[in-house]
Amino acid sequence: MMTVPPSSRRVLVTGGAGFIGSHLCEYLASSGHSVTVIDDLSTGSLANVKAARQAGGDIEFIHQRVSAAIPGLKPESFSAIYHLAAAVGVRLVLERTSEAIERNVLDTAAILRFARGASLPVFIASSSEVYGKGTKTPFSEDMDVAYGPTTALRWSYACSKAIDEYLALAHHRESGLPCVITRFFNTIGPRQTGRYGMVLPRFVRAALAGTPLEVHGDGQQSRCFCDVRDVVPAIALLMDRCASRGEVFNLGSDRPMSIMELAHTVIRELGSQSEVRLVPYSEAFGAGFEDLRVRQPDLTKARAAIGFNPTISMATSIASIASHFATASKEAVG
Ligand SMILES: NC(=O)c1ccc[n+]([C@@H]2O[C@H](COP(=O)([O-])OP(=O)(O)OC[C@H]3O[C@@H](n4cnc5c(N)ncnc54)[C@H](O)[C@@H]3O)[C@@H](O)[C@H]2O)c1
Repeated sequence: MMTVPPSSRRVLVTGGAGFIGSHLCEYLASSGHSVTVIDDLSTGSLANVKAARQAGGDIEFIHQRVSAAIPGLKPESFSAIYHLAAAVGVRLVLERTSEAIERNVLDTAAILRFARGASLPVFIASSSEVYGKGTKTPFSEDMDVAYGPTTALRWSYACSKAIDEYLALAHHRESGLPCVITRFFNTIGPRQTGRYGMVLPRFVRAALAGTPLEVHGDGQQSRCFCDVRDVVPAIALLMDRCASRGEVFNLGSDRPMSIMELAHTVIRELGSQSEVRLVPYSEAFGAGFEDLRVRQPDLTKARAAIGFNPTISMATSIASIASHFATASKEAVG
């Protein structure tokens, strides 16, 4: 496998105060990189940056929106960019749609122009949402996609991420910009917040509090959950590989679990007395909300490229999310 020579220069991580971004910063810093984070803390937190710093290494923090921070930086200062900043989560995207579209499209356009100037390798975090209403499972990177009408604002997140991909691939075609795109499926682990609709942290919080776990719809819709600590090394491996450039990869687990099964697994693993409550989609997200029954990636491409093989179990993920919440609430009291 042809790899890019390691560089001692700094890497730039946008969204590094967020869930996946902070784990990536921790991984890159502990692999010997100096890291600069740009994050406006719209959904991320300084506590995440602090936790990433605890693993050691040099992590500098710029508290700004990506498009505002870029003019003050020189591309030559960096050896690579990891762009994870985005408005994420169904609830957030439905509540603040125009802001979410602008964040996901305009800030990605700004980072790509910045990278193009110095032909900097750039990683773009995309999403399984790009598969839209895909019914042919598992989803492979080159399959056709269909979205709902523009009046169903739920699809705007998928389209904004698809535009990011088109833009990165257009820069790659036009100027050889070395970009790597991954479509994350449901990524889980400590530091993920349930505030914006993410299912597992919501369930863990409810189970710890002894309150009902709210399952949307009939709970038979299934998702594939992959721990962030399996995902992050794969991002670095893909970026280090010349042949990944200009390519799109699915990244996640390919083992589906229904949301009802997930709820019962959380209750069992945490020894909780909580019950499961079914909540209609219309009550959770408003009338006309459409959800996918199955979302499962085809991992053939990531396996062939880097031998991707996630190993962290759901029980381990649940235990570490619960222990993260316990530590965070002790720190809040202390
Ligand atoms: N978590 C998942 O399961 C999942 C699934 C698919 C795709 N993704 C993608 O992975 C990336 C990271 O997601 P996450 O789950 O860590 O979300 P997150 O909300 O925890 O992280 C996003 C971070 O970006 C910051 N941010 C947002 N817009 C910004 C801007 N314009 N300028 C500066 N900072 C900004 C937020 O404050 C936050 O810290 C996103 O691009 C998301 O679309 C995540």
